[in-house]
Amino acid sequence: MNMISNELIKQIKDSVDIVDIVSSYIPLETRGKNLFGVCPFHDDHSPSMSISKDKQIYKCWSCGATGNVFKFIQDYENISFIEAVKICADKAGIDLKINNYKEIPKNNELYEMYELATKLYQNNINTKEGIDAKKYLNDRKINDDIIKTFRIGLALNDSKLSKTLLKKNYKEKNLLKSGLVVKKEFNYYDFYYDRIMFPIEDSSGKVVAFSGRLYNKDKSKTIGKYVNSMETEIFKKSEILYNYKNAKEEARMKNTIIIMEGFMDLFRAYSIGIKNVVVSMGTAITKEQATLLKRLSSNVILCFDGDEAGAKATNSCSDQLIKLGITPKVVRLEENLDPDEYILKYGKEKFIEKINNPINVMDFKLNYLKNKRDLNSSKDMSQYVNEILKELNNIDDDIEREITLKRLSNESNLDIDFLREKLETKEEKTIKIIEKKPSIIKNTNMYIKAEQYLLYYMLNNDNVVKLYKKNIGYMPTDRYRKLAFEISQFYKTYKYINISDLMIELRDDEELMNTINEIIMLNLSDEYTLEQINDYIKTIKNYNIKVESNRLKDLMRMELDPIKKAEYAEKILEIQKTNIEVGE
Ligand code: UTP
Ligand code: MN
Repeated sequence: MNMISNELIKQIKDSVDIVDIVSSYIPLETRGKNLFGVCPFHDDHSPSMSISKDKQIYKCWSCGATGNVFKFIQDYENISFIEAVKICADKAGIDLKINNYKEIPKNNELYEMYELATKLYQNNINTKEGIDAKKYLNDRKINDDIIKTFRIGLALNDSKLSKTLLKKNYKEKNLLKSGLVVKKEFNYYDFYYDRIMFPIEDSSGKVVAFSGRLYNKDKSKTIGKYVNSMETEIFKKSEILYNYKNAKEEARMKNTIIIMEGFMDLFRAYSIGIKNVVVSMGTAITKEQATLLKRLSSNVILCFDGDEAGAKATNSCSDQLIKLGITPKVVRLEENLDPDEYILKYGKEKFIEKINNPINVMDFKLNYLKNKRDLNSSKDMSQYVNEILKELNNIDDDIEREITLKRLSNESNLDIDFLREKLETKEEKTIKIIEKKPSIIKNTNMYIKAEQYLLYYMLNNDNVVKLYKKNIGYMPTDRYRKLAFEISQFYKTYKYINISDLMIELRDDEELMNTINEIIMLNLSDEYTLEQINDYIKTIKNYNIKVESNRLKDLMRMELDPIKKAEYAEKILEIQKTNIEVGE
């Protein structure tokens, strides 16, 4: 097994150009020194992502996404860092011999146990004891192809999984942590028994949890139609969408992702060839899940159950998506049917027609909010109009806004211009990139500005790093000090600095990466003068001196011994005398 060294990763980075790579994903246009493109990481309408050939980084002025070439590929393709490195290596013709390369993932034992459990459950369903479960599934028109594709299995009433895992010598701590095994007194038992098992995969396709469904009605003593695995280090329910990995390719190809509530809905859709579907597993969509969806396509269709609960879920899910800049489309099914039941009752063609003709989310909302009210009452009507206007404020799509206003005007008999005026005037969405002239700092927190500006130039200029090391070497603010330290260390080791390479070194430190992000987004001119740098250094130095002399003053005040008191006084004077002139 061999690890890829940072040296090699940097070499790979140097063999590709971020401009070529990014332009293979999104079209770019030249503007001045930089290239611009429509940002793939938020619902962007005009190009707000700039790509710097010099620095080999990208940054989106609108959503703040930033990073080097690997980060771009990683986030665009939703893959691991190493996979992104591999893609670049392939493009550059560098052989990583990645076949014998294996990253030791964190929580490896947990993944192994879940994989083993999946295989064991899969095996069970094909045995004699699995006949009833198989029959149940087949009766529901879940055929063997679907059972295989989704790795559906069966937990029996035998604690076989616990026994198998114990034999493999997993640590007891990890066995219990997995949630697959429970301990009563001195014995180990399986957590799941007598359930049809649906393995839940993370976005890279590794099994991280199960959902187990009751199938034998006689044993209805047990509660819960579906029981999900408990949360573990590898399973955070709020961050997972069922079938994400499988749907990814198809969703990108069709540029549409459909979201449904239940497993059965997905299996049914799959069986009629609709494969760009993910499942919310019956809970409200979280911000993390909405972000995952956004990566697949900005065309999101919500196809939830046809009942009242489904309408409610549609409403809250669309709110969550709208917050992230996605305006979803909606499919509503009649007769309270869920997609599974609808397809079984009305067939493939009718369902596909529904999916191909989703309604606008505001049309859905007009209906949804109207149903709760009596629009003949003027009080209800005014509440309704206000509610719709409030919702409309969040919709970015101009056309959808106008159509909704028109409908609302018809329904309420209010003048459309009057309604339009009631909308909050939207901030002009286009982003103007004006470089600030940062040389004058005047602010109560001027040392913070000085730290930020100095870091901005340290990230790209050897000279500024040298000046920092020579003249201060210490920043008052914690996170800036940490970053300045890392920059200095990098410079000391490699005798140069550049931001995209530093990002390779610091990729696993989230806090530092966030600080780098903050600094990159400052939007300063890349040209600097020595005078400017000296100004920052002086400001920071003066602040450091002030802090230190205040500290000594406090100590002096508390000191009782007159001799020591005098020593403090002397120290304070000495510090305050420190030459604050900055030299090269
Ligand atoms: P549904 O009750 O609509 O289930 O819940 P379903 O998928 O249509 O399954 P069948 O047709 O009853 O067999 C939708 C989803 O909510 C989650 C499951 O993921 C389910 O697919 N759920 C439901 C639970 O997690 N626990 C439950 O007790 C019920
Ligand atoms: Mn359902």
